[in-house]
Amino acid sequence: MSERILVCVAWPYANYLLHVGQIAGAYLPSDIFARYERMAGNDVVMVSGSDCHGTPITVSAEREGVQPRDIVDRYHPKILETWERLGISFDTFTTTLTENHYATTQEVFLRLLEHGYLERGTQDQLYDPQADRFLPDRYVEGTCPKCGYKEARGDQCDNCGSTLDATELIEPRSRMSGATPVVRQSEHFLLKLSTLQGALAEWAGKQAHWRRNVLNTTLGWLNEGLKDRAITRDISWGVPVPVEGYDSKRIYVWFDAVIGYLSATREWAQTRGEPDGWRRYWEDPSTKSYYFIGKDNIPFHTIIWPGMLIGYGGLNLPYNVPANQYVNFSAGQKQSKSKGTGTWVLDLLDTYAPDTIRFYLTQIMPETSDSEFREDELIRANNDVLIATWGNLANRVISMIHRNFEGVVPDPGTLAPESSELIAAVQAAFDVVGREYHTCNFRNALQEGLRVAQAANKYLDERAPWKAVKTDREHAGETLAVALDAINGIKTLLHPILPFSTAQLHEDLAQPGTLLAQGWQYVRVAPGTQLAPARPLYTKIDTAPQAAS
Ligand code: MF3
Ligand code: ZN
Repeated sequence: MSERILVCVAWPYANYLLHVGQIAGAYLPSDIFARYERMAGNDVVMVSGSDCHGTPITVSAEREGVQPRDIVDRYHPKILETWERLGISFDTFTTTLTENHYATTQEVFLRLLEHGYLERGTQDQLYDPQADRFLPDRYVEGTCPKCGYKEARGDQCDNCGSTLDATELIEPRSRMSGATPVVRQSEHFLLKLSTLQGALAEWAGKQAHWRRNVLNTTLGWLNEGLKDRAITRDISWGVPVPVEGYDSKRIYVWFDAVIGYLSATREWAQTRGEPDGWRRYWEDPSTKSYYFIGKDNIPFHTIIWPGMLIGYGGLNLPYNVPANQYVNFSAGQKQSKSKGTGTWVLDLLDTYAPDTIRFYLTQIMPETSDSEFREDELIRANNDVLIATWGNLANRVISMIHRNFEGVVPDPGTLAPESSELIAAVQAAFDVVGREYHTCNFRNALQEGLRVAQAANKYLDERAPWKAVKTDREHAGETLAVALDAINGIKTLLHPILPFSTAQLHEDLAQPGTLLAQGWQYVRVAPGTQLAPARPLYTKIDTAPQAAS
């Protein structure tokens, strides 16, 4: 039975290059998941886009003396280039600047207003008396009230991942002038989360399949009691508030960004000439939506967005929100683009093959706890695991078939017990690895896939076809044919993680069509198949004495 799945991925702010932490946290896991689900024959749409509003963009623009749109025009193409080169397979990756997104955002706003989930209220806001302006979100910095980190920003703390309100900061300071802000009142629209508390608690209580940290963060918010939150800001860059008298304000970036999931699905349907096609991903309750995000985004996806969806009515709430922890970068410092630390993925792509990067980032994917990125470990993973366990296996077997059988796959004949055992292990792995992908345990999926490669290596070593071929050609032929079948299976198992190299192998093994079209199944390489000449799937990386990086 095929499923319909909507894959929603956090919208990156278009104010800088993407760093490794964002890739390992959200984009690579979502891509692996989407690729697997498509191979499994499910109906998948994967959407996201550049998050173009809010103070992350305006602060960058003001610092450089350019327009917010200039910042987006510079970084959105870089983000698209990253997807292209890293193989992140979005069905639609748009921006929050489209007409469709503005219309969808205002429609949701007005519907929530009409349903009584928005309310006008007077809010305490920080104000810069020197610069003579309000200081929403990232215009102010101070000490985090939760963890004591000194450089927390008005919207969140990068150290502990807490979502903050600027007025909660201890010893706040204006990033505009350095002045100590004063509190001033300002009229805003509030999302009535207090009203939504009951419905959200009931819904969250049923999500036993969520990751523990996601559930705990969500229940933590609910236990504290949800507070109404301002969803407009004193700022001139953003989606206009579709109500009179709000010309000097805009909709809060987080309110419009999460609506992006809906507007991007609409855009996807529009582009396919099927304007109502989005409905089956949002209105059909059997569709499952998955949200791939970093841990700092949890409350927006398990409280605020679901609250908005409940208020709107008739649209699916998230099925799963497999949020990841952080990737640390050298000596425990979190990768943060606002601090200018981190490894830019585009830089890595200038040096390393995309599958090498994907392989290592899957190995260190911070699924249950923070992890650490180290370039020397990336090189080690490429040379000592990816190549030693998997790349060489394929290369050796194809080379031996060329050397001894003119590159034509031999007939294995009647299988010896150890041959049948290896094939059975490959077949069994389709269930095991498939389940790990489907439940978003990507590190396990990789380990289970590599385990089969290890079994195939052991099988080869034990039957030593390079020796047997001199005395018992049939024995060697069986070994190579069976090993090649295992390789063909492992290729499929690892395809979601290593799409480039496995597609190359698929071609070299003269297999028909694409791996996507072949689907999630064990397929034998027919005896008599003429193989392409052996070529390495991966390049060994030189570990010449390295300058400190
Ligand atoms: N731009 C936000 C960030 O980088 C994520 C937005 S996710 C969305 O933290 F759902 F709001 F789009
Ligand atoms: Zn903190």
